[in-house]
Amino acid sequence: MMTRRQAAATTLAAAGLAATPATARAPIARPLVIAHRGASGERPEHTLAAYRLAIEQGCDFIEPDLVATKDGHLVVRHENEISGTTDVAARPEFAARKAGKLIDGETVSGWFTEDFTLAELKTLRARERLPALRRGSAAFDGQETVPTYQEVIDLAKTEGERVGRVIGTYPEMKHPTYFAGIGLPLEARLAGLLKANGLDARDAPVFVQCFEVEPLKAFAKLSRARRVMLVARGPSPVDVTTASGLKAIAAFADGVGPEWPLAVPIVDGALGPPTDLVRDAHAVGLAVHPWTVRAENAFLPKALQRGVGPAAHGDVAALLKALYAAGVDGVFTDFPAAAVAARGV
Ligand code: G3P
Ligand code: CA
Repeated sequence: MMTRRQAAATTLAAAGLAATPATARAPIARPLVIAHRGASGERPEHTLAAYRLAIEQGCDFIEPDLVATKDGHLVVRHENEISGTTDVAARPEFAARKAGKLIDGETVSGWFTEDFTLAELKTLRARERLPALRRGSAAFDGQETVPTYQEVIDLAKTEGERVGRVIGTYPEMKHPTYFAGIGLPLEARLAGLLKANGLDARDAPVFVQCFEVEPLKAFAKLSRARRVMLVARGPSPVDVTTASGLKAIAAFADGVGPEWPLAVPIVDGALGPPTDLVRDAHAVGLAVHPWTVRAENAFLPKALQRGVGPAAHGDVAALLKALYAAGVDGVFTDFPAAAVAARGV
């Protein structure tokens, strides 16, 4: 009879979640579908409704971006300035909280999570970031609150039990250097939450991601959870276009999260042949989880656009299939149903 630990390892392996030694890395037959901010193409991002729908659609992981409140809670928003995704600007009681700040070298004006307690944030209501592109999602404005990371972990567990699948969470530390600078460091808070939830393990269904190198390294000293280095096109703290750059990442991370055209480039408005990124990353034991696949024409290369206008959906299946064919180990998407369908298993 299998022990509970063996049974858990079997379940994780079946879901493609188990840690794999760098030197004996088998190709993953079933790339992970990572619901980026939930099923955020169809519900306001980073809401429990968006995560519930993503799980219903068959995703493996739900992705929360994390920022801190004034009283030190980790809440789920893409940035600490919240006027684009909540109704805070229309709330007279918070008008005086409007501020201008320098965040990671950029001047930002608005309302910031670090100026609100969790109780105050919970009075706000979430709204669609891109209402012109996502009118169907905007119909759900005002129905949901700003969740904490703990609520997202709890949802993954209860919904996972309900649907009979392991649902992982894939938290991203947002602006960690900025938050450390104002006395609200994210790394220890995140590590503490993972530990309190039994997720401080290499084979736990969690990946911690960040665009900054030092916070990922700092997190590595606090937790055994797996880490993913995010990389965008253009100037970046690490170079994923060379084997040596990827080898450097492998010294402190388990995976790399490239902007998807770094894996499958856009050439003359169409998808080109894959770059060497997946091959070189796998050679040093890194998983590859590109971001972010979106269905609207506004986010697709010209050759995949269909119908009329930026909000119409293009041939997102072709992009997903190209990424899977390139050998990626998972994909971040605002449309998990499309990613599950294109995966075919
Ligand atoms: O975390 C992967 C991807 O989400 C990174 O971009 O800006 O959507 O958090 P962003
Ligand atoms: Ca993210």
